[in-house]
Amino acid sequence: MRSVLFGRLLIVVIVLAGILMFIPEGTAIENSCVNCHKTLTPFIEEQKRFNQIRIQHLERNAMCSLECHEDKVRQLATANYQQWSESVHALKGVTCEACHGGDVTQTTKEKAHVDFKSNTDPLSPVYYTNVPETCGKCHQKELDNFKNSIHYQKLESLQLAPTCTTCHHPHTFTKPNPEDFRVSCGNCHSVYKKVAPIDIPLTAEDMIRKVNKLQFNIDMARQDIFWAEKNGTDVTQAKKYTENALNTLGSLAPMWHEFNMTHFEVTIDLANKEIKKAEDIVNPTTTTPSKTTTPEVPGFEGLVGFVSLMAVFYVVRKK
Ligand code: HEC
Ligand code: HEC
Ligand code: HEC
Ligand code: HEC
Ligand code: HEC
Repeated sequence: MRSVLFGRLLIVVIVLAGILMFIPEGTAIENSCVNCHKTLTPFIEEQKRFNQIRIQHLERNAMCSLECHEDKVRQLATANYQQWSESVHALKGVTCEACHGGDVTQTTKEKAHVDFKSNTDPLSPVYYTNVPETCGKCHQKELDNFKNSIHYQKLESLQLAPTCTTCHHPHTFTKPNPEDFRVSCGNCHSVYKKVAPIDIPLTAEDMIRKVNKLQFNIDMARQDIFWAEKNGTDVTQAKKYTENALNTLGSLAPMWHEFNMTHFEVTIDLANKEIKKAEDIVNPTTTTPSKTTTPEVPGFEGLVGFVSLMAVFYVVRKK
């Protein structure tokens, strides 16, 4: 009896799933770039080819070219549509042509790609020196901040400087991972490339870690406030402290965009102090050193790294 019931249930589920599959998605976008690129496999083929090369390189221990290929794979292959579709930009309807140009009403590749330039062409809107203006169409504040930086001046004059996509992956636009800075800043700020300050990759890495830690502390405080409120504690003041910390967190982005790291540490410490005050109200009994105090061995790793970098730099200079 039970197995018959189960069998029927299974049929119902299968039929339902079948129907659901044929219902078009509610958010179908009338945009030829998106519609066509969604179905594209050539990039996947490309990736397969690079993966093959990659394996061969691995077998021969050829490490340095690996990175380039991996980068290409990331950019050309699985990257674009897939990454974009999961990004805030997709959510807000910022489609491909907003940055790449082209004609979204055309359904053939040739016509849709009208006036297309490769991203290695200095006339392309996604050529790295043009990226700030392309993004700035919608992110004026960030562009203005970026224009205040030494980097922008160098980008204009020497073409040797980072651009928006140095820190924001071109299609996911997520916050950079701490480790990313070693490569993205280290491409110029290193003993080898001799662009001062050479300790920047480590400093930037350390800073973004502190940002993440602050975010974590804020999330924890909010959870504790939620439970404290349920238990009848007056959390008004705790909420205010958390709000202050959140505002401070929001004020950090301009510092990145201006590359002005001077007040960064102080600002983060201030925010963490606010969180500590909030936690003291809602969570006074528990001693939570890992939550409330400043991050583990704050500058120590950075300091060691910096000192050894300086030592290498000194030796290289002497030669
Ligand atoms: C009918 C399918 C089709 C449509 C429509 C289409 N594309 Fe493409 N696109 C392709 C294919 C296929 C490639 C792979 C590379 C190639 O063959 O040129 C590609 C490659 C690209 C590239 C990278 C290659 C390059 O030339 O630098 C970009 C960027 C791009 N498309 C953006 C867009 C944008 C923006 C639109 C809408 C205005 C669009 N595509 C519309 C099929 C399409
Ligand atoms: C918010 C801006 C933005 C949007 C939206 C966007 N891209 Fe891009 N895309 C870029 C930038 C910037 C680069 C260059 C990255 C680099 O050089 O590292 C790029 C690079 C690419 C490349 C590889 C390089 C080339 O030849 O241009 C492809 C392919 C591509 N995008 C496809 C797409 C597709 C397809 C969509 C829509 C699903 C899309 N992009 C949406 C900004 C964007
Ligand atoms: C056509 C307008 C448009 C363009 C062009 C554009 N963006 Fe955006 N971007 C948006 C919108 C809308 C959001 C959603 C958040 C908001 O409303 O500010 C957003 C959000 C973001 C975010 C925040 C993501 C998050 O997780 O909260 C980043 C970072 C970002 N964009 C970077 C860029 C970069 C870098 C470029 C250039 C390569 C770019 N954007 C180009 C409209 C645009
Ligand atoms: C040095 C690395 C770096 C560069 C270069 C950079 N950003 Fe950012 N950006 C960040 C960081 C870090 C954040 C903060 C993310 C966070 O805290 O969630 C951020 C945040 C943002 C946000 C979200 C705004 C907000 O207040 O949360 C936007 C939009 C954005 N950047 C756009 C841009 C644009 C446009 C450019 C180029 C003109 C650019 N970024 C260049 C690192 C960078
Ligand atoms: C493509 C090269 C390049 C990359 C990548 C790069 N920088 Fe720079 N940076 C420069 C140049 C050039 C200068 C100016 C050096 C000088 O004039 O002595 C500079 C200067 C600086 C300065 C000093 C600014 C001042 O006012 O003195 C800081 C801080 C800085 N960069 C941070 C960063 C960070 C953080 C990253 C990674 C997100 C990064 N840079 C990536 C080229 C680069």
